[in-house]
Amino acid sequence: MAQQNTVQLNSSKSLSSSITFGSPAYKQLDLLIGQIKPTKIFLLTDSNTRACCVEIFLEQWSSDVKPIELCIPSGEQSKSIAQCNHLWQQLSDFGADRQSLLINLGGGVITDIGGFVAGTFMRGIRFVNIPTSLLAMVDAAIGGKTGVDFGLLKNQIGMMHFPEMILIDDQYLDSLPPEEIISGWAEVIKHGLIGDQSYWEHCSTLDPRNVSDWGPIIKNSVQIKLKVVEADAFEANRRKILNFGHTFGHAIESFRLEHTSSALSHGESIGVGMVLAAYFSTQLTDLDWSVAQQIRQVVVTNYGIESFDTDAQQKIEQLLIFDKKNSNGLTKFVLLKSPGTAVIDINVPQSLYAKGFDFYHTGV
Ligand code: GLY
Repeated sequence: MAQQNTVQLNSSKSLSSSITFGSPAYKQLDLLIGQIKPTKIFLLTDSNTRACCVEIFLEQWSSDVKPIELCIPSGEQSKSIAQCNHLWQQLSDFGADRQSLLINLGGGVITDIGGFVAGTFMRGIRFVNIPTSLLAMVDAAIGGKTGVDFGLLKNQIGMMHFPEMILIDDQYLDSLPPEEIISGWAEVIKHGLIGDQSYWEHCSTLDPRNVSDWGPIIKNSVQIKLKVVEADAFEANRRKILNFGHTFGHAIESFRLEHTSSALSHGESIGVGMVLAAYFSTQLTDLDWSVAQQIRQVVVTNYGIESFDTDAQQKIEQLLIFDKKNSNGLTKFVLLKSPGTAVIDINVPQSLYAKGFDFYHTGV
């Protein structure tokens, strides 16, 4: 990304995070470090980003204080309290104090667990997110959601803790396998569907495997997410729209996580969830049938069609009770009125669930 751009998230000091793009962002990081003068700086990576991204990062590093590297195994299994324990222990062993800074260099697992460890260690130390996956650049690293999984349940334990700065450098995407790009693409599609019809229409024609310049796409998605987070940082209302496709999506991801051999990526799971939500939207919020079909087509083109038999559907439905948007035992959905216009807190009758899966499987 050639141009420099910094976006300030929220005027309230306690929620402030600046998002800086491209190579000039490292200068901003340097300025931040000069300003806050951390006693120690820690660099959290996983086994993949240690191999592929640390060198790129250190080439840009100009501060005199060298970061102390902490590394965890890559993969969703690392988003656990056991791994937090290990990181809290390492921070203690290396003499971290409340003026220490944690830099999270990695995908969504690293920004989620790193933010949580930063938020809890000594009741909170500062942290910076440097997302290296598409999913983390457009979603996970932004907005202050941090946490770990609880058993198979995604992100059940966590807190809001806002990074000092988010540094987005799309050269890290060059190190990603194509399936990781495709997984992150679901969040890009989601942003168009909940926030910007013309962005949705543009993205629906793109093949994420052949995008040559990620800059404008990442910026567009970041702007859509920021606007929502700024309006409702703690997800009292409006921020729930960012969970479009995630109600069934998280349940499907948890269900398939149980059998590692058939695990689905976050993007694949959210893709199915968006198709189900699109079907419910045709029944409950007047979404045009042709739009639901277009959403299904985009998901199927990018992710293929997975098969969910009656038994699988029942097990997935049982997992809906853990959805964090639930209130009074009722599962609440985010649905669409039209592309770009989402509505929250919709109660979907259970009788529509199987029809939603039929629509996903067959298109009718
Ligand atoms: N990923 C949903 C949110 O940040 O609210």
